[in-house]
Amino acid sequence: PSILVLNGPNLNLLGTREPGVYGHTTLADIEQSLAQQASSAGAELTSFQSNAEFELIERIHKAGSDGIDFIIINPAAFTHTSVAIRDAILGVNIPFIEVHISNVHAREDFRAHSYFSDKAVGVICGLGPKGYEFALSSALEQLKGSI
Ligand code: DQA
Repeated sequence: PSILVLNGPNLNLLGTREPGVYGHTTLADIEQSLAQQASSAGAELTSFQSNAEFELIERIHKAGSDGIDFIIINPAAFTHTSVAIRDAILGVNIPFIEVHISNVHAREDFRAHSYFSDKAVGVICGLGPKGYEFALSSALEQLKGSI
């Protein structure tokens, strides 16, 4: 099975970005441990981060043509704004889990709404970088047997 991990704007700054909210783990750390977790389960994992909405959209389109089985996405601020990324992910019809490092429901009101949650297989928020690992283990379990 093949899994794509997508991270949106400013997540390249993890490690130094608002450490009180997002912690000290870098995106490279997260991507590396996910790659290990996937390979020990015999799955193929690709990670992609962009600060640009169109690049995320085009990466999702490519996931569709590449036959990616599952997407784990932290759309970051685009969570709360992007009908276009929502439409892209629905357009390729790939199941996805939405991840947020922080508890978006315990922050500003505008973070409580997501353009993704109603279509996600599941949503994880507030559990820190571990949320990505939990999402991946769930994705691997869901793909087991079906691929
Ligand atoms: C975030 C939460 C968003 O509200 C914010 O814009 C981010 C990161 C999180 O992982 O907690 O950039 O998605």
